Amino acid sequence: MFVNRGIYFTAAAMVLLAGTAVKADERYKPVMDQVVAKECGACHMAFQPQMLPKKSWQKIMDGLPNHFGEDASLDAKTVRHITAYHLKNAADSSWLGGKFMRGLSKTSAPLRITETPYWVREHNEEVPGRAWKDPKVKSKANCIACHKRANSGDYDDD
Ligand code: HEC
Ligand code: HEC
Repeated sequence: MFVNRGIYFTAAAMVLLAGTAVKADERYKPVMDQVVAKECGACHMAFQPQMLPKKSWQKIMDGLPNHFGEDASLDAKTVRHITAYHLKNAADSSWLGGKFMRGLSKTSAPLRITETPYWVREHNEEVPGRAWKDPKVKSKANCIACHKRANSGDYDDD
């Protein structure tokens, strides 16, 4: 009897652990750096660096004075700090590469997460066309309109 119970508890613990592992895989690290969170979260949510390759972040950080039609310029020291954080955590910062590297060639450097092949595929397959016309959404880049926990890196909520 005692032995059986031991096996039962072990199995239950393993199921729990497996569940956590799957969840972790769907999560992106929230922006932990206070400077990045403040400066890159002023107009929209601070997007997770894991969603674009290094080349993209470099282009974005080099082009802040004309950032999607807005002036997002910062002083040189802050730019260096924010760039370093993005390069360190970019989609291609690890040897294996993150999900956002899927279908992306080594040379391409999209300026938008919403133009990466992985993002496009996930949303074309799962989001009905009318969802984008919802007045609460306004823009594809408005992640939080649909992913309530986007800021904490959780996109697996709907
Ligand atoms: C002055 C306001 C402002 C600030 C500050 C700002 N952005 Fe933006 N950003 C925008 C606007 C406007 C867009 C276009 C949004 C849209 O298409 O709905 C945008 C879009 C983006 C996109 C593309 C989103 C997509 O996939 O379509 C990225 C990536 C981005 N910003 C990164 C950054 C980073 C990194 C910083 C910090 C260095 C930053 N932004 C700071 C205004 C700003
Ligand atoms: C109009 C609503 C909508 C908007 C806006 C939107 N998404 Fe999504 N997204 C969805 C739906 C629906 C799914 C598929 C269901 C799911 O897996 O959560 C999805 C799936 C995803 C996934 C895959 C989830 C997984 O399981 O790994 C990621 C990552 C993601 N979205 C990121 C983003 C980012 C980043 C933005 C903003 C740049 C964004 N989404 C904007 C609706 C939206």
